[in-house]
Amino acid sequence: MKRSTFTCTVYNIFVILFLLLSATSIAKDFIEEEGDLDIKRSDFPDGFLFGASTSSYQIEGAYLEDGKGLSNWDVFSHIEGSIENGENGDIASDHYHRYMEDIEILHSLGVNAYRFSISWSRVLPRKFGGVNQAGVLFYNQIIDNLLLRGIEPFVTIHHSDYPQELEDRYGGWLSTLMQDDFVHFAETCFKSFGDRVKYWSSINEPNLFGILGFEIGICPPARCSPPFGNCPHGNSDIEPLIAVHNMLLAHAKAANLDHMKFKRKQGGMIGIILHAIMYKPLTEDKSDQEAADRALAFNIAWILDPVVFGDYPPEMRRYHGSELPRFSPDERVLLRDSIDFIGLNHYASLYAKDCINSRCICNDSSCIQGSDRAIRGFVCTTTEQDGVPIGEPTGMSLSFVVPRGMEEIVNYTKKRHHNKPMFVTENGYSSPYKSFEDYQHDVKRINYHKSYLAFLAQAMRDGADVRGYFIWSLMDDFEWINGYSLRYGLYHVDPRTLNRIPKLSANWYRDFLRNSNSLNKNYI
Ligand code: FCB
Repeated sequence: MKRSTFTCTVYNIFVILFLLLSATSIAKDFIEEEGDLDIKRSDFPDGFLFGASTSSYQIEGAYLEDGKGLSNWDVFSHIEGSIENGENGDIASDHYHRYMEDIEILHSLGVNAYRFSISWSRVLPRKFGGVNQAGVLFYNQIIDNLLLRGIEPFVTIHHSDYPQELEDRYGGWLSTLMQDDFVHFAETCFKSFGDRVKYWSSINEPNLFGILGFEIGICPPARCSPPFGNCPHGNSDIEPLIAVHNMLLAHAKAANLDHMKFKRKQGGMIGIILHAIMYKPLTEDKSDQEAADRALAFNIAWILDPVVFGDYPPEMRRYHGSELPRFSPDERVLLRDSIDFIGLNHYASLYAKDCINSRCICNDSSCIQGSDRAIRGFVCTTTEQDGVPIGEPTGMSLSFVVPRGMEEIVNYTKKRHHNKPMFVTENGYSSPYKSFEDYQHDVKRINYHKSYLAFLAQAMRDGADVRGYFIWSLMDDFEWINGYSLRYGLYHVDPRTLNRIPKLSANWYRDFLRNSNSLNKNYI
């Protein structure tokens, strides 16, 4: 062999070796960051629920039809400037008129569960003013038709919308009176639908509802105070705690009613659903590690400690003064163990920085106003570490793609709350782009779900008792203050015709649920 040829061959071998090594390490990084994208339905146990999620105000429309009363969101969305592009949910995805088509879509996807919520103002339009039979009929049709197709109804009793009358009369969730009104609504649901519904969730995301409605005041009832925002009324340091306190007691009373009066006859489970952000320390400092733990306590355990152990987390009791309401001994008994399962809505992970030991400069863009206060647990949360974002951005400003967060949040809940049965009741991707491509060729959404599912499967292999996974959302919908500009759907809803158009992700989900893995791979 000539010398030059030899040198060249050795060089080539090095190059090939180098390429192989870097390919392996890229592949390793990829797996570490994204999980095993070959995830299959058969990686999950038999009987695991795979579904899609929606909520009443976000898809139903028909806001004043067949006896429905006005809800808080009907009123709020009609106030100028409250919703992007002046949009509202008057028509939304027109599910009220197209529910049969939507049930057929669910059936064609092959899901075995569907999570939806009951519109309080459709079933009980006026306080104690009698049940609106047309509303009951609507949900009966949905439940019966789901069951006929082998799909379990997974029902949220209260998902953000409630009769405006309750707000006008006594201030909604700021009043203890709301607890009994909620129990009355829950009892109406148990009586009307409980013979067929086996999975009930009392309230969707009390923690986020408390923050959006009473701390930063961007959702109804839009109350807040500086430095969190400039609302005409409110007190951001105190009111989120009061509203959540009433929601927790309302949950406990409804769950108790379910257990005492209905469960023995009807069977089934009742849980509560929370907005479950994962928090990671910004630096390796012990104080940031403690800040991340505190953020988890102030956001997750705020809801879960009371319904599992009967009281607020010790971390909150330590840092809050008298503004943190107290439970009476009887209330603690009522709350303790008042859930059969935990619902986790997981979209995002954030970095946490301590604001007790180090001064958090809150006019720095990475530090949210008010981080140096008890209501935020003296934690500043941010999406960047040394200028590097925590993950790929999505259409929602604080939600970045961090698939490992799924495993971490499930493990946190497993450990702290005794591995109670869990359902991932929401997980979804909204694209930051608004191109037509993205309506239909939503490869990023597919990869998002695969990678989050892979980390979920990992947590389950390590023993977490997770029993179901629901994609948010079945279809594009009214995304609260973002109107229709954020799209999470497996189906695109054409704004002109309201026709449902499957995205590539709908086809992927169908194939995934059929366990047809070869097809599965073509989507990457
Ligand atoms: C969750 C809500 C749900 C939906 C998603 C994107 O916090 O529960 O209604 O808007 O965010």
